[in-house]
Amino acid sequence: MNKVTTKTLFEKKQKGEKITMLTAYDYTFAKIFDSCMVDILLVGDSLGMVILGYDSTIPVTMDDMEHHVKAVARGAKYSMVVADMPFLSYHTTTEDAVKNAGRLIRAGAYAVKMEGCDDVYDKIEAVIKAQIPVMGHLGLTPQSVNIFGGYDLRAKEEAEAKKLVEDAKKLEKAGVFAIVLEKVPAHVAKQVQESVKVPVIGIGAGPYCDGQVLVCYDMLGMYEDFKPKFVKRYAEVGNITKDAVTRYIEEVKKGEFPGKEHSY
Ligand code: KIV
Repeated sequence: MNKVTTKTLFEKKQKGEKITMLTAYDYTFAKIFDSCMVDILLVGDSLGMVILGYDSTIPVTMDDMEHHVKAVARGAKYSMVVADMPFLSYHTTTEDAVKNAGRLIRAGAYAVKMEGCDDVYDKIEAVIKAQIPVMGHLGLTPQSVNIFGGYDLRAKEEAEAKKLVEDAKKLEKAGVFAIVLEKVPAHVAKQVQESVKVPVIGIGAGPYCDGQVLVCYDMLGMYEDFKPKFVKRYAEVGNITKDAVTRYIEEVKKGEFPGKEHSY
């Protein structure tokens, strides 16, 4: 099977075939997701919360991202690897944006994801001009949490919804190959999806998007610090892990593990 490219995604939208995307942060999970043929593995800056234990994505650095991109890229043979550009890695100058995007590509990513529109538009254009594919991210953009004042639903009011559609068109004009749309009403996401030719990948944005993305630790039931309404847990891996560890402790304490079959 050929590796997923921007062309594959564009064709999927044209054919009405849904695109699948999951976050991945390490080699082992990347290999499992890749074997399931997930279209896109996002090395999200959500790793700041689910891997590093911060309470937002803001402390995540380029070094953190590079480290995890390298691991995921080694496990991805089919899936496209997209890397988040972390907070302040592209907000300063176009030179910084291109240099930092380049670091993530050299680490093994196929493309980078950048949040926002107007404030970073020249940076998005510069990265694309440097021949690095960019995925946009609109709606709730977690790197702006302190400006928004929280993680509330975006584009509830008509004016913000209209602006969102305009921003999506602007990003398409800049040359992004896809747009993540986070936490907006389903009918607004539908307007965005219908307004652009590039795939729109939703998270908390209802069923009309061209694809869906979830944080893997959320959908596997591993991250318990908070659970947004848009998360569906497909497994309770956190509970399965607790059960396994509890049995391991019991068996070690009772001298039942290791048995003869595990001994030399
Ligand atoms: O960092 C991340 O995991 C993301 C997804 C929520 C889209 O940006």
